Amino acid sequence: MAKSLSVIIDTDPGIDDAIALLLAWASPELNVLGITTVAGNVELEQSYLNAHRLRWLAGRRTPIYAGCPEPILKPLKVTHTIHGRDGLGISWPEMEAPESSTHSVDFIIEQALNHKNSPVTLCMLGPLTNLAMALILCPEIKEGIKQVVLMGGALDNKGNTSPVAEFNFFTDPHAAARVFDSGLPIVMSPLDVTRQTEVAETWLNAVQSLDTPVCKAVYEMLSVYRSGTGGGLHDPCIVAWLISPELFTAKRCDVKVKVCGDREGQSVPEWKDDGQVLSLINVNADGFLTLLKNRIQAL
Ligand code: BDR
Ligand code: CA
Repeated sequence: MAKSLSVIIDTDPGIDDAIALLLAWASPELNVLGITTVAGNVELEQSYLNAHRLRWLAGRRTPIYAGCPEPILKPLKVTHTIHGRDGLGISWPEMEAPESSTHSVDFIIEQALNHKNSPVTLCMLGPLTNLAMALILCPEIKEGIKQVVLMGGALDNKGNTSPVAEFNFFTDPHAAARVFDSGLPIVMSPLDVTRQTEVAETWLNAVQSLDTPVCKAVYEMLSVYRSGTGGGLHDPCIVAWLISPELFTAKRCDVKVKVCGDREGQSVPEWKDDGQVLSLINVNADGFLTLLKNRIQAL
């Protein structure tokens, strides 16, 4: 098998983040160097604890770090209606997360500086606060970053948090603007594509019937997610792209993120063949859901 891709996953779990993490852990194509957490769907403390719960469920030992507790300029506004009160929507065994040994921002900087000869992929599933801070503190990290792959934005301008803005960009538009202005190669999975992956009840029942602890938890979490306004499996799409890019079509553009006014968090594309951003456009949803089910059943 080809050498696995070294990734750092930055996340704010979140039910769809949870499924994305499980997919990554279940995939030998990916070598997950660390999980960096951020505030977004839930407050940082909860996001950090949820990452530990998921690592326990997956039976993995990946290091987990706590990051920024607030967006760069805006106050944090979490989303209890989609991901349940504590972000994962189901009950877990009593568990305490140890104090984070390093800040997420420092971990990203350290890893990127150490990987100048074999750059890492940053897989961003929440507001882009940690990466923006890392770029501000230490611009030299760019050499150690192969690509930033992220869930965020709505290129058709049909937002899920404001009429024009998607949640991750709306939560920290200044961080998103900083990342898109960084010159780093970006692969973007906007709502336009992630909305195509709504889970049908038959798929969910098939996952339940697999009857493993992971599949049972996935069934329960996604039952909560479907009863809210979650929509498609947003975060798992970009992880699936890393594993099976042939499931997606994509197109190049440059993207500007608006930082203020009625359009804050809006992502505005300029379509061009030499654009800095590769945006996913369409997904083979059946293929994606089959991949997801096959991988998580093996965990
Ligand atoms: C994004 O917002 C969050 O609620 C999800 O976890 C996903 O990252 C979708 O807009
Ligand atoms: Ca997320």
